[in-house]
Amino acid sequence: MASSNFVLILIISLLCFLNNPLRCKAGNVLYSVGGMYPLEFLKYQGTLLTLQEDCCLAISQNGSAIVWEKHINASICELTLLKTGELLMLGRSAEPLWVSTKGGPPGEYVLVLTEMHMAVYGPSRWANSPFPRPPLSPTDVDMSAKSILFPEQILCSGKSIKNGNWELKMQDDCNLVLSNFGNGIWSSNTSNGEAAACHLKMELTGDAVIYDESGDQIWSSNTSGVGHSVLVLRNDGKLVIYGPVIWTTGKFLEKHSEQSALVQPF
Ligand SMILES: *[C@@H]1O[C@H](CO)[C@@H](O)[C@H](O)[C@H]1NC(C)=O
Ligand SMILES: *[C@@H]1O[C@H](CO)[C@@H](O)[C@H](O)[C@H]1NC(C)=O
Ligand SMILES: *[C@@H]1O[C@H](CO)[C@@H](O)[C@H](O)[C@H]1NC(C)=O
Ligand SMILES: *[C@@H]1O[C@H](CO)[C@@H](O)[C@H](O)[C@H]1NC(C)=O
Repeated sequence: MASSNFVLILIISLLCFLNNPLRCKAGNVLYSVGGMYPLEFLKYQGTLLTLQEDCCLAISQNGSAIVWEKHINASICELTLLKTGELLMLGRSAEPLWVSTKGGPPGEYVLVLTEMHMAVYGPSRWANSPFPRPPLSPTDVDMSAKSILFPEQILCSGKSIKNGNWELKMQDDCNLVLSNFGNGIWSSNTSNGEAAACHLKMELTGDAVIYDESGDQIWSSNTSGVGHSVLVLRNDGKLVIYGPVIWTTGKFLEKHSEQSALVQPF
C-alpha cells in the first residue's frame, strides 16, 4: 500500500513538473549565449516576453494585452541571440524558422526587454574588466531591481543599480563603485575627497559619463559615436556597455539603428 502511494505521488510530481508554469530566463536580459525555449520568458515590470508553447513569440503587458507578436507555426523551437546580433528561431532539426534582422559585427550582444518593447544592443564595447564573457547560466535574478542604465538615463549621487548581490553606486564623494556584498571590486577612482553632487549619465551618443557639480566631465567610458547604448550590470558582476541598438520592436529607435555606424567590437 505504502509503495503504491509512493508511486502515485511520484506520478503526480512528475505531471506537475512536466506541466510546469512559465520559467523566467534571466530578468529582462538575454545574452548571446544559450537559448530560450517554449514556456520561458523575460520580464520587465508589467511587460513579459514569452516564447509560448506553440512557438509564438509575444510581448504582453499587464498579463493580457499583446503589444507585439511573431507567429511561428511549430511545436518545437528555440530562440537564440547570435554573436552577430540576429535573433534566430530554430525549429525541430535546427532549421531557421524566423530571423529578426541583418546582424552587426561579431561580438557579444544583449536582448533587453523594457516597457512594451525589446531591443538588441551590441556588440559590447567597454567593460570594467577584460574579456567579458556572457554569464553561462542565469543565476538568481532580482527582477525588481534596476540593473540597466538606458540612453539618457542618469544615476544620481547616492543612487545605485543592482543585480543580485552586485551593486554599482554613484557615491556622494564622486567615486563610481562596483561592489559585491559591500566589498569594492572596481571603481572609477574619481573621488575628490569631499561630498559633491556628481552623476553618471548614459549619453545618447553611446558613452557613460560622470559629471561633477558644475557640469564638467570627470570620467568617460570613451565609447561615444555609435548611438543608443546600454550600460548593463550583469548577473556575473561585470559592468558592460553594449551598443548601438541594431534591432527593436519599438518604433522610435528604428531610425537610429539605421543611422548608427558599425564599430569594432570590444
Ligand atoms: C498596464 O497597467 C498600467 C497601470 O495600471 C497602465 O498605466 C497601462 O496603461 C497598462 N498598459 C496596457 C498596455 O494595458
Ligand atoms: C500549422 O501547421 C500544421 C501542421 O503542419 C497545419 O496543419 C496548420 O494548418 C498550420 N497552421 C497555420 C495557421 O498555418
Ligand atoms: C583605481 O585605483 C586602483 C588603486 O590605485 C587601481 O588598482 C585601479 O586599477 C584603478 N581603477 C581604474 C578604473 O583605473
Ligand atoms: C578615456 O580617455 C581619456 C583621455 O584619453 C583617458 O584619460 C581615460 O582614462 C579614458 N577612460 C577610460 C575609461 O578608459
